[in-house]
Amino acid sequence: MDPDVLDKYKKAGRICRDCLEFGNSMINPGVKIIEVVEQIEDKITKSGAGFAFPINVSLNETAAHDTADIGDMRAFQDGDLVKLDIGVQVDGYIADSALTISLNSGKEELYKTAQKALGRALKLMRPGTPVPVVSQTIEETIRNAGFNPIINLTGHGLDRYRLHSRIEFPNVRTDVNYVLKEGDVFALEPFVTDGSGKVTETEKVLIYMFISDRPTRFPESRKILEMASDMFHGLPFTKRWINQRLKISPLKLNLVLRQLEQNNSLYAYPALREIKNGSVAQAEHTVIVGDKPRITTA
Ligand code: CO
Repeated sequence: MDPDVLDKYKKAGRICRDCLEFGNSMINPGVKIIEVVEQIEDKITKSGAGFAFPINVSLNETAAHDTADIGDMRAFQDGDLVKLDIGVQVDGYIADSALTISLNSGKEELYKTAQKALGRALKLMRPGTPVPVVSQTIEETIRNAGFNPIINLTGHGLDRYRLHSRIEFPNVRTDVNYVLKEGDVFALEPFVTDGSGKVTETEKVLIYMFISDRPTRFPESRKILEMASDMFHGLPFTKRWINQRLKISPLKLNLVLRQLEQNNSLYAYPALREIKNGSVAQAEHTVIVGDKPRITTA
């Protein structure tokens, strides 16, 4: 890997790790979700990096893709199991890492299992390893602990300004036909549940991503698409960021975003919930494949 590129991956990784530690220290019962999210965003911006995606804060049976809404009133509560997933980019080179915080949820074993599965998988991220071998290790670690992996959430390859490159990294053994190469970059993210092991989409959509430039009849739609492709570099963004910058009322914004989703200008990421409402824990690191795998977010 080009040394400049490696430096950018390392810088993104350090900032991401520091932000997770900071978030971890802030998350307590009674604290508002939006407060934590905004402070982390501030920290990323002040460090000179950019967002690779909106700070995901997903509670309990929600596995992923929840974040602070405009004027979000929710606060963390005693008993919550909180997934904090942060994405940072430096010149497009991405660090993606997550941790789970238990606020007396009694579900600590779920996270310990996710960490164990992740730790074992990371050691295998060497050139020549077939993806299914790593996936199998993740799956077995989770099942042997008496839990289920989420089968329809996967790790993913990372490219410059691309959060999901073509290669998926399943948390269960599949027939994915890919052998790891030196310098490949992946985000590995085992999700562990005491439910049945699958997520489904909810009605809640706060996160979007640019697909194609097809404005609707609303003048605002053109501005939103411009921001999505230029300011956010085609990476996922959240409604709140648009609201901050364009001062469109939340009602109008919902209308325009829905139209842009319907005409395939924007891709929507609904919040994902475990189908049996099982609790979900997540552990995630970004790793560069090598004879000594380099975990950029550790
Ligand atoms: Co992530």
